[in-house]
Amino acid sequence: MDILHVVGARPNFMKVAPVMDALENCTGINQALLHTGQHYDANMSQVFFQQLALPKPAVNLEVGSASHAVQTAEIMVRFEQVITRDPPNLVLVYGDVNSTVSTALVCAKLLIPVGHVEAGLRSFDRTMPEEINRLMTDQLADLLFTPSEDGDANLLREGIDPKKIHCVGNVMIDTLKRLLPLAEPRWAHLRQEYKVDRFGLVTIHRPSNVDDPAVLSELLRTLEEISEEIPIIFPLHPRTRKQLTGMNVAASTKHLHVVAPLSYLDFLATQAHATLVITDSGGVQEETTFLGVPCMTVRDNTERPVTITTGTNVLVGHDMEKLKHEVRRALNAPPERTTVPPYWDGKTGERIAAIIQHLYLPSMPIR
Ligand code: UD1
Repeated sequence: MDILHVVGARPNFMKVAPVMDALENCTGINQALLHTGQHYDANMSQVFFQQLALPKPAVNLEVGSASHAVQTAEIMVRFEQVITRDPPNLVLVYGDVNSTVSTALVCAKLLIPVGHVEAGLRSFDRTMPEEINRLMTDQLADLLFTPSEDGDANLLREGIDPKKIHCVGNVMIDTLKRLLPLAEPRWAHLRQEYKVDRFGLVTIHRPSNVDDPAVLSELLRTLEEISEEIPIIFPLHPRTRKQLTGMNVAASTKHLHVVAPLSYLDFLATQAHATLVITDSGGVQEETTFLGVPCMTVRDNTERPVTITTGTNVLVGHDMEKLKHEVRRALNAPPERTTVPPYWDGKTGERIAAIIQHLYLPSMPIR
């Protein structure tokens, strides 16, 4: 059988790697990778392909940046041409980005089965573009691979057939576990570059935090204040960089060090050594939970509630006093004992491969 994996944006790359690895061990499966080109800068895409040892994409749709409607539509038009020429037996889509929903929709119309890896997550906040992408993709998918049991409950509530739902765990953690030993040796060099011992790591890129100059300015002022207590390393996402350029603001100050987006291994090493993390990313909430690093999420909600109930994550919303309070708490108190959610064990890719093999090629052995 032929499987086509679709990726487009930075958080997709670490999710596809373990699934492709696991499927390599299955007899009777040919797989290929398609990149929509949603992310195209070398430090948002190419370096991830190298470090994750991903194969060169068989196709790159090269859609680039545009408004949501244009980007989504452009992916659909170009993707349809590719898969009508050579229809696979199954398409696997990842996460909640525009590349995920647009390709799932094309497949559904062409009656090509789609599997969604990281299904069922819900923030219940439809002002987030990703929530729209999640809701639609899950309605369209034939196979739904969830990272945690809350995902199953969400899907069942939305009327999804239980037979389609498989709780397999978190693919991001597969990659983290595999590459942490490779990331670790990079710390000595990074530490010299940053010239800090204890530090907070910040990633901020969501439209709700960066698109309104007043919100972004207040956040930067707060980060500068926090940096007086603990130096901050702040890898700047292109969206945030663009907004700051428009506002004519230099983000770096004495103890707030803005750096270019980090590669996967450098980010992982930095995260593992951070005293605390301030973020609005989804994946970082999960990675800090696994690493046991205190995480303050600058959002009103999260689609990853297990990072709060069992992990190190706390939501601070847009309340800058609360953010400062939580930072002080993390700096003064010893880290609380937390646990890692079930199935975040590095074997999620293998579970997905086994399910696909069982459903599509029951008579073929796993190599
Ligand atoms: C996208 C995802 C978001 C994910 C994030 C991770 C959607 C709706 N959003 O958001 O869920 O958390 O990726 O990074 O799919 N740009 C560059 N170079 C690039 C890519 C983008 O300069 O390689 C700039 C462009 O100016 C673009 C802006 O960043 O307009 C935003 O990029 P886009 O892909 O539209 O969304 P992200 O904010 O990256």
